[in-house]
Amino acid sequence: MSDPTPTPTAPAPARPLSNYNNWISAIGAVLAVGALFSFLFLAWMDLTGKGNNPYLGIFTYIVAPGFLIAGLATMFFGAWAQRRWALKHTSMPDKWRLDFSKPAQRRRVILFGVAAVGFLMLSAFGSYQSYHVAESNAFCGEVCHKAMTPEYVTYQRGSHARVDCVDCHIGSGAVWFVKAKINGAHQLIAYTLTDYERPIATPLKNLRPAQDICEKCHWPEKFHGNVEMVFDHFLSDRKNTAYTARMLMHVNTSKPGSPPGGIHWHVNENEKVEYFATDEKRQDIPWMRVTNLKDNSVRVFRTEDFKDEPDPARIRVMDCMDCHNRPAHVFPTANDAVEKSMAAGTLSLKLPNIKRVAVQAMTQDKLTTDAEAPRLIEEFMRAKYKDPAQAAELPAAIAEVQRIFSVSIFADRKADWRVYPNNIGHKDWPGCFRCHDNQHKTETGLTVNGSDCTSCHSILSQGKGAQLEMLSAKGQEFEHPGGELDPELSCADCHNGGIQK
Ligand code: HEC
Ligand code: HEC
Ligand code: HEC
Ligand code: HEC
Ligand code: HEC
Ligand code: HEC
Repeated sequence: MSDPTPTPTAPAPARPLSNYNNWISAIGAVLAVGALFSFLFLAWMDLTGKGNNPYLGIFTYIVAPGFLIAGLATMFFGAWAQRRWALKHTSMPDKWRLDFSKPAQRRRVILFGVAAVGFLMLSAFGSYQSYHVAESNAFCGEVCHKAMTPEYVTYQRGSHARVDCVDCHIGSGAVWFVKAKINGAHQLIAYTLTDYERPIATPLKNLRPAQDICEKCHWPEKFHGNVEMVFDHFLSDRKNTAYTARMLMHVNTSKPGSPPGGIHWHVNENEKVEYFATDEKRQDIPWMRVTNLKDNSVRVFRTEDFKDEPDPARIRVMDCMDCHNRPAHVFPTANDAVEKSMAAGTLSLKLPNIKRVAVQAMTQDKLTTDAEAPRLIEEFMRAKYKDPAQAAELPAAIAEVQRIFSVSIFADRKADWRVYPNNIGHKDWPGCFRCHDNQHKTETGLTVNGSDCTSCHSILSQGKGAQLEMLSAKGQEFEHPGGELDPELSCADCHNGGIQK
């Protein structure tokens, strides 16, 4: 209850002005309020929106708080400086204070107020913009990650070029969200100190489980039966002879109601495939285990040399990424990249041996920086084609090889197919033959099939020209363009993406 008759009091003695009342502290305060505002805004966007992006986190949890601290520090510094000033200059203690009673000062204060409001509005706008920029693929691929240029370039020509980086690399869910934030901040620091790895090491350890990423768009129930694939090649001969294989990949051979079969059998829900790799890149696999989840029966396959038991912590359950390990960043082999241009007609077939020369030009040992590459490629090709009759074709061919190089081999980052194996097939990398090599056996002698080519695919037609019109629904025997196949050798023993030995 309040007193209805306030007793008149004597006017309060003028309180000494606060030390915080000075220009420096005022600027600090505006900065701090702006930063706090940005922080709250970004944090809100981050937690409510689909801002699942570690780079936004850098703004939210590093840059904005940084400004907040700087603003507060400026405020304290202003107060401290004001106190020192007042102690030293007792005659004129208020020189730096804001005082509304003096007209000249008042004008300055109003001006300052207007500037401060402007600043607050700009910081709101700025945070909104940084939110959008941080969300974009260009930011991941270009601005922040010069280091990631190879991934950005390869991503843009892949089938997932319209899928955002963050959809695969971060996705939703609180735990991964925090992990990615910490990781993003860590990468920023590493990048600023330029100690990022060249090439960036794979397999990525903190990638989300494939089920969470891939199955959002590709769920196992809708897996196709056969997928047709066409492989266009050219031989490294004078005539650049074409060789094409049209194949049906048996991705899913099961009928409705029958047990799962075909290539996607590995990720069926009745059985679990696990394996142990001795190396980081998961290329050397001496042990694997299939568990039937219905009756818990187990089959263990191992190579003859591997007598130990695998470290349980390093046993991996097979998922999409063990075959589709490069869904968005395929680094084509030099061989494939050149053949693609030849098939598309952008690299002239009129130059003899063009496939061999182009691949050799791209893979010269001395070619170690991106800046020198165009010159070295040109010199190499000019030395091979001195005949004046070839002069008309040569410049365009050189330009095309330089282009192919620039989008598939990243010398500065040491990133190309040689460090990023693609596990989907078996020609240039071990891939399926890591396990399907007839060398892995159970105790009762069962092997994982490697020699029955038709269990994985059938060849509809092969060769060139009219040969390609002779289709076989049953599947043809493979006619190896490089001569009779030696069953002792794996394809990748000879084929390595460069020039065949
Ligand atoms: C369709 C899913 C997908 C998308 C979209 C995607 N990535 Fe990846 N990315 C992967 C997978 C899977 C790997 C892991 C490869 C491995 O471990 O062998 C990877 C690997 C990487 C690596 C490690 C180096 C390497 O080449 O393996 C970087 C860097 C990278 N991605 C950056 C990006 C950037 C930047 C974008 C967007 C421009 C992006 N990714 C978009 C799936 C994706
Ligand atoms: C946001 C949706 C989305 C996600 C997530 C996604 N994909 Fe895809 N994927 C697509 C679309 C759309 C296509 C079809 C592109 C086309 O038709 O060219 C595709 C095509 C493919 C293809 C066939 C074309 C090719 O490049 O061989 C494979 C294989 C594939 N995805 C695997 C994966 C894997 C593995 C992952 C998880 C790392 C994944 N996808 C994550 C949308 C997605
Ligand atoms: C044992 C290796 C392996 C595993 C594991 C695997 N795939 Fe595949 N997948 C293949 C092969 C081989 C093809 C045939 C196409 C090719 O050769 O590129 C294929 C085809 C596909 C296609 C269709 C491509 C098209 O062109 O239509 C999609 C989509 C796909 N896989 C997604 C997935 C997803 C998602 C997972 C995880 C749930 C998965 N795959 C697991 C090997 C595998
Ligand atoms: C374990 C399954 C599997 C077995 C067994 C297998 N392949 Fe393949 N093969 C594949 C897959 C998967 C691809 C597709 C690779 C891709 O998508 O790029 C492929 C691709 C190919 C290609 C096209 C490669 C290219 O780049 O032109 C040829 C040719 C081929 N296989 C021949 C054979 C022959 C010959 C055999 C028997 C000695 C055989 N394969 C056994 C899974 C298999
Ligand atoms: C980590 C080891 C491993 C890798 C890598 C692997 N597989 Fe398999 N695959 C197995 C095992 C184990 C079996 C089951 C063998 C058994 O139980 O008889 C199997 C079975 C299969 C089957 C028969 C499925 C059925 O019952 O119908 C096909 C087809 C197949 N794999 C294709 C592929 C292809 C294509 C690739 C490469 C893209 C590949 N595999 C890579 C381990 C592997
Ligand atoms: C003994 C070494 C050797 C082995 C093993 C080998 N190849 Fe070849 N292959 C060659 C040679 C040599 C050529 C001819 C190269 C050329 O003219 O460019 C060739 C050409 C090819 C070509 C067409 C040209 C190209 O560069 O793509 C294909 C496709 C091919 N081989 C697939 C395979 C497959 C699949 C396997 C495993 C089943 C295999 N090769 C095993 C040596 C080998």
